[in-house]
Amino acid sequence: MNNERGMKTKTTNKLFYCTYCMFIFVLLINNPSVCAGEAEKLTGKKFAQLARGGILYDNWLTELQVKVDNTHPSYPSDGKQKGETTWRCKECHGWDYKGKAGAYSTGSHYTGIVGIRAYSNQKPEKIIKVLKDDTHAFGNMISDDAYEALALFVAYGQIDVDLYIDRTTKKSTGDPASGWRIYLTTCVKCHGDDGKEINFRDEAKPEYIGTIANKNPWETLHKIRWGHPESQMISLVFLDLEAQLHVLSFCQTVLGK
Ligand code: HEC
Ligand code: HEC
Repeated sequence: MNNERGMKTKTTNKLFYCTYCMFIFVLLINNPSVCAGEAEKLTGKKFAQLARGGILYDNWLTELQVKVDNTHPSYPSDGKQKGETTWRCKECHGWDYKGKAGAYSTGSHYTGIVGIRAYSNQKPEKIIKVLKDDTHAFGNMISDDAYEALALFVAYGQIDVDLYIDRTTKKSTGDPASGWRIYLTTCVKCHGDDGKEINFRDEAKPEYIGTIANKNPWETLHKIRWGHPESQMISLVFLDLEAQLHVLSFCQTVLGK
């Protein structure tokens, strides 16, 4: 009896060990902080370029003070947006970088255009070629410096958000209690301790950090990582991703009430 049980435990142990190894392996290949070794190798100046790329992805037009009044030639004619906003990277490729496979698979931002995930960890030179192609039609509205920043962001700045934000519940995997410390020493200066110091919309339909964090966690995570264009808002990309997710969780739970 005892012997038999012993054997069983051994096999179970082996099975457990194998599963555990597989789990760690999957974790390693999926973990951007491991894959994103390239980003860590960037010098201070290049790292700053990468961070600027995140801001440019959000809105390169306001950041570079470029004015356009037409709708982007590659924006689908049945799309719901028009004018300047159709030139923003996020408008065609999404806050979750997954385009038609992500949050923009339906709704007023649907375009049917692919995301940028396939270009993660690709050579920046190769990405610049894509950005300079006829489809994008940016020409010299974007400077070489800004093209480089955008390419660095596409290569080493974007992440697979589905590993950290649940698609259905929209909840971040972070821990609000740990996010508290970061929020209350940084973000608080502008957004206030209840997150209501800045209203992103109007009095009639106020929108605060807590609102956005629950409605569009992918956008909020992008802002936490890179900052907000045309503002003094800081970027938390110098912290590891886990800490950034703690801040997102804090915004969703404590400020979301
Ligand atoms: C008006 C819509 C639109 C805007 C704005 C736009 N793109 Fe694109 N992008 C496209 C289309 C269309 C493709 C081609 C997809 C294909 O080949 O099917 C593309 C392809 C890409 C690809 C290659 C994806 C792949 O898997 O083939 C990358 C990377 C990319 N864009 C980055 C950007 C960046 C960075 C910006 C902002 C500076 C941007 N795009 C702005 C429409 C847009
Ligand atoms: C120096 C001031 C400042 C700091 C610090 C700051 N922000 Fe902001 N933040 C702003 C401003 C200004 C805006 C733009 C407000 C607007 O568009 O009306 C903004 C916008 C945002 C938005 C985007 C809302 C939207 O959808 O347009 C989010 C989310 C956000 N902040 C979260 C944070 C978080 C989280 C932190 C801490 C990591 C933080 N901010 C730190 C000033 C700041």
